[in-house]
Amino acid sequence: MTLLVHTRPDLARARSGLTGRVGLVPTMGALHDGHRANIRRAKEVADSTVVTVFVNPLQFGPGEDLDRYPRSLDADLAVCEEEEVDLVFAPVEAELYPGGRHGLTTVHAGSGGEILEGACRPGFFTGVLTVVAKLFHLVRPDLACFGEKDFQQLAMVRRMVRDLDFGIEIVPVETVREPDGLALSSRNTYLSETERAAALAIPHAIRAAQDSPEPLAAAEKVLASEPGLTIDYTVLCGPDLGEPPESGPARLLIAARAGTTRLIDNAPVRIGEPDA
Ligand code: PAF
Repeated sequence: MTLLVHTRPDLARARSGLTGRVGLVPTMGALHDGHRANIRRAKEVADSTVVTVFVNPLQFGPGEDLDRYPRSLDADLAVCEEEEVDLVFAPVEAELYPGGRHGLTTVHAGSGGEILEGACRPGFFTGVLTVVAKLFHLVRPDLACFGEKDFQQLAMVRRMVRDLDFGIEIVPVETVREPDGLALSSRNTYLSETERAAALAIPHAIRAAQDSPEPLAAAEKVLASEPGLTIDYTVLCGPDLGEPPESGPARLLIAARAGTTRLIDNAPVRIGEPDA
């Protein structure tokens, strides 16, 4: 039976009743199979599981989709029940930011927060890291699961945990994809049929990159052939978001817009021919 709480005192009471290692899955709701994978991983590695559901206004820039972001707490709770989550914390904004957003003390993301998503969405990682830090303090988990789909977010959270000594294990979870390869995202629900067809160029580009010794060029070629996509970036980096190696394992990251919907994806690739 999943317990739903909305307030800090109720969370603290429920948290003190949890036993063993506690695993946290932070979410913004609209739970899909990608979130289920995070929950299942948390259940594998922890004894008790907590899911948070909060559409964090701090990580949405002006003109982004805060107002239209899907909200479906009843359905989210049903998913958590099915996955046998112990506790769901779904606060309203005033519960999480009681002093208001104005003048708020925030977590400053380091230089990694200024590139890629951080360059396209100024303030995004300050918003993400601030809410994640607060959820870590409130839930006090031993570990937390984050999807590899948001690869930079995963790297930034890892770095924050290390830099600010949170002492929480960060567990990565592989991206879950539709049968046609599109990475699951709550934002996929915004896509029209035509936009969704255009969005498929992203997983196609990833597959081409994984099959090529020149992954960046291979991905760019596929993306350039899809007029329905506007590319924000296609980059190669090292596994920790640093400079890509001259050869060997690297990570390909893609951000693109189909209509007004922004999609991101990434995958491991290899630069150069595999060793004989
Ligand atoms: O990945 C998300 O859904 C959000 O960025 C997170 C980690 C729940 C913080 O609001």
